[in-house]
Amino acid sequence: MLKNIACIILAAGRGTRMKSEVPKVLQKVHRRPLLSFVLEALEGAAAGSLSKKILVVGYKDEIVKNAFRGLDSVTQTELLGSGDAVRRTKSALSKFKGDILVLYGDTPFIRKETIKELIKKHTKEKASCTLLSANVKDPSGYGRILRDDNDNIVKIIEERDTSIYEKIIEEINVGLYCFNKEDLFFGLGRLKINAKKQEYYLTDIIEVLKKANKKVTSVSCKNPIEALGINSKLDLAKANSIIRKNVLELLMLKGVTIVDPDSTFVNMNARIGKDTVIHPHTIIEEGVTIGKKCEIGPFARIREQTTIDDGVEIGNFTELVRTKISSGTKIKHMTYLGDAEIGKNVNIGAGTITANFDGKSKNKTIIEDGSFIGVGSIFIAPVRVGCGAVVGAGSVVTKGKNVPPHKTVVGIPARVLKKGRRK
Ligand code: UD1
Ligand code: MG
Repeated sequence: MLKNIACIILAAGRGTRMKSEVPKVLQKVHRRPLLSFVLEALEGAAAGSLSKKILVVGYKDEIVKNAFRGLDSVTQTELLGSGDAVRRTKSALSKFKGDILVLYGDTPFIRKETIKELIKKHTKEKASCTLLSANVKDPSGYGRILRDDNDNIVKIIEERDTSIYEKIIEEINVGLYCFNKEDLFFGLGRLKINAKKQEYYLTDIIEVLKKANKKVTSVSCKNPIEALGINSKLDLAKANSIIRKNVLELLMLKGVTIVDPDSTFVNMNARIGKDTVIHPHTIIEEGVTIGKKCEIGPFARIREQTTIDDGVEIGNFTELVRTKISSGTKIKHMTYLGDAEIGKNVNIGAGTITANFDGKSKNKTIIEDGSFIGVGSIFIAPVRVGCGAVVGAGSVVTKGKNVPPHKTVVGIPARVLKKGRRK
């Protein structure tokens, strides 16, 4: 279905309203750059079958290109608006025949199904342009879709050019279009610069095409959230909170207990097993995996690359990063474990700390099955605690001084007591 479709993704804008030195499309939502959301939806819709995909970069182009290596790109040397940005792809697409999808890099909630639907309608209706519109309660900031008495689209008017009568139009332009290639470049050639903004608006192409008696049609978004364009830090926070709510709802539907959704943050890429309870004020970051029947929090922070097996208890003020915790282990209070591997049924006492960074590199702490770690212990990594060993309260287990299995160590630096507490 998508054989004769090329795609242009606009990512050149400065993102002035972001008031940031980071290009807008690299601003993060749930720790992922905005642009990656659009690319993922596109990939999902096209399943690798697009003829061509061109990223238009401009502001801090090298940084954006570096973040998305492997994509063809065209540089918009002067930021003269979305219309100009599309026009820049003309020579890159000179040999291409077919239809062209245009997407904006700042609309992270567009779904693959919507892209497919848009292409389907465009192809079926043999339209010159098919655009995605949405009906929203607060249209401010968006381009409004103007229709005639027969409901045909006449043009798009940008917010700053609307009259008070047009401002109340609730149907907005989302920023996803499918164009017939010839008509696209015909229309772009006729765009006039917007006097107020000194930019060529892509949206002005609609009026140009209509005046040339070309067919312009639309698909309406089922869910207005899809229409959210991210222009400011306020919008970024909105996007984060939409995803957060969604993630928590999905987890609860899968059998995870979230005691207080309002104070719980779970990254969209985290996985949690059923009957695990997440207590209030807990943060679970990117790529974390938590098994079944665990108790996490309150006030726990589980950071990236951490895996927690079934039946683990993580209590308040515990931070874990790049750490694996095996089943049945308890880490109940005020602990920091970084780059650690903790075996099964280990008890980690309050205030245990791994000194995992020596100023140059991150080093591993391994604590094997059934060990008992007394309160206030410090592990200077790299170090290993053998299975069934005991580390006395307040011990400092120094670099490379591994604790033998089933032995007890105490003191600073920790030394083996003659008699092990357990066998
Ligand atoms: C744009 C639309 C508006 C729509 C809204 C949806 C235009 C003129 N207006 O407004 O109708 O309701 O999106 O979110 O298109 N860009 C470039 N080069 C430029 C300028 C912009 O590549 O010179 C890119 C930006 O990186 C961005 C996209 O075009 O990805 C849209 O630009 P933005 O400034 O965000 O437009 P909006 O004001 O949001
Ligand atoms: Mg925008």
